[in-house]
Amino acid sequence: MSAVPEEVDDSPYCCCSAATFQEILERQRANPLPFMELLMVHAGCGAGCGSCIGDLEAYLRSHDAYLED
Ligand code: FES
Repeated sequence: MSAVPEEVDDSPYCCCSAATFQEILERQRANPLPFMELLMVHAGCGAGCGSCIGDLEAYLRSHDAYLED
């Protein structure tokens, strides 16, 4: 057993990406991309319903991980 409690990922879930915003954020930090490209590469929003794009943008901005196109 680990002494460190697992970090809880309570960020919103994007069904179209099959990933949470936090997972998308981690991909973005590992390989930063402009937002439109991020939607295609790190997330499935570009080919998905698009309903969470505004929230995802706000989430990335609040974590200092948003790159202008
Ligand atoms: S739920 Fe994120 S784009 Fe559809």
